[in-house]
Amino acid sequence: MSLLVTGGAGFIGSNFVLDWLANSDEPVVNLDALTYAGNLANLACLQGDARHVFVHGDICDRALIDRLLAEHRPRAIVHFAAESHVDRSIHGPGAFMRTNIEGTYTLLEAARAHWSALAADDKAAFRFHHVSTDEVYGSLKADDPPFAETNPYEPNSPYSASKAASDHLVRAWHHTYGLPVVTTNCSNNYGPYHFPEKLIPLMIVNALAGKALPVYGDGQQIRDWLYVKDHCSGIRAVLERGRLGETYNIGGWNEKANIDIVRTVCALLDELRPDSAGPYSRLITYVTDRPGHDRRYAIDARKIERELGWRPAETFDTGIRKTVQWYLDHPDWVADVQNGSYRDWLDRQYGAQAATA
Ligand code: NAD
Ligand code: DAU
Repeated sequence: MSLLVTGGAGFIGSNFVLDWLANSDEPVVNLDALTYAGNLANLACLQGDARHVFVHGDICDRALIDRLLAEHRPRAIVHFAAESHVDRSIHGPGAFMRTNIEGTYTLLEAARAHWSALAADDKAAFRFHHVSTDEVYGSLKADDPPFAETNPYEPNSPYSASKAASDHLVRAWHHTYGLPVVTTNCSNNYGPYHFPEKLIPLMIVNALAGKALPVYGDGQQIRDWLYVKDHCSGIRAVLERGRLGETYNIGGWNEKANIDIVRTVCALLDELRPDSAGPYSRLITYVTDRPGHDRRYAIDARKIERELGWRPAETFDTGIRKTVQWYLDHPDWVADVQNGSYRDWLDRQYGAQAATA
C-alpha cells in the first residue's frame, strides 16, 4: 500500500509527507514539478528513506501519471500540487489555469482509468483527496457567519477561480463517474517551510533583514489562521474517515486582522531576537492594496469536528511562537531560499536519477 502525493515539495505538501512518515510506514510517492515553490530541502531528512520516492514531474503529464499509478498502485492520491499565490495569479494567471485546472483534470482522468480497472475491494478502498482552499467562497462582510460547506462559490481572484474550477471538476468526476473523492477547503496555513512570499514568513524574514514590512491597504483584512500540522491532521482524518463525495472545511477558529498578525510577529521577534535599532514594528509600511483584495475569510469547521472528531491542536499563540522560532532556528533554509540556491537541490541531493525518474 502507498499514497501518491502531488506537490509534496511545497509548503503544506512537504509538511504532510513528513507528518505522514512520522506516523506511518506506508510509503509515499511524491510527484512534484519543483516550480519556484517546490523545495527538496524541506524533505532533506528523508534522504535515503525507502518509504519516500520522489518523482520530478508535472501533473499535466498524463503518461507519467499513468505509469506511476501502474507501478506503485497507490491506495489514494492526495492532491496538493497547485500554483498557490494570489499576487502571482494577478500578475500571470496562465500557470494557474494550467496547473490548477488542466493538472487536476489530468489527474482525475488518470485516476478514473486506474480506479475503473481495480478489483472490487481495492476499488472500494481507493480515494482521490483534493486539497482546496476557503478562497473559493469569496469574501465575507464583517457580520457574515463563517464559510460553511454549503456556501455558494464566489471566487474573486484568478487563483481562487482556478481552485474553484478544480473543485467543480472533482465533484463532477464523483457525480458522473463514481470516482471516490473527498475535498477539503482550508483556511490560511502558517508554519515551517512556508515560502517567504506569503504574509507571515515574509514579515519574519524581512524583519530579520531590517527591511520594510509591507502591509496592503489598511491592514484590516481578516484571515483565519491554522497551524500547518493541524491542516495535515485534518487531511489524514478526512482521507481515512471522510464520507465519499463530501467536502470538509478545515480552519483554526483564529480570525485575525493582517496588521495584528504583523504586530504579533514583531513582538515575538522583539522578545526572541531583539534588534538594537529598536522594535521591529518600526519597519511596518503601508503599501498599495492588492487588486480585488478579499476583505475577510473565516471557516466554520463544525462539520469535520462533528463527523470526524477533528480539532486543531495548536492555538494561534502556540503556533505562531513555534513558527517564529523555526525561522530563527533555520537561517540556512531561509538564506538558500532567498539566494535561490534551494533550486540546486535536485542535482546536489538526488543527481540525474531523480530528474529522469
Ligand atoms: P506551494 O505553492 O507551497 O506548493 C505547491 C507545490 O506544487 C510546489 O512544490 C510546486 O513545485 C508543486 N507544483 C506546482 N505546479 C505543479 C505541477 N504542474 N505539477 C506538479 N507539481 C507542481 O503551495 P501550498 O501553500 O503548500 O498549498 C498546497 C495546496 O493547498 C494547494 O492546492 C493550495 O491551493 C492549498 N491550500 C493552501 C493554503 C495555504 O494557506 N497555503 C490554504 C488552503 C489550501
Ligand atoms: O485562505 C487560504 C489561502 O491563503 C490559500 O488558498 C493560498 O494558497 C494562500 O496563499 C493564502 O492566500 P492569502 O492571499 O490569504 O495569503 P497571503 O499570505 O498572500 O496574504 C495574507 C494576507 O496578507 C492577505 O490579506 C494579503 C496580505 N498581505 C500579504 C502579503 C504577501 C500583506 O498585507 N502584505 C504582504 O506583503
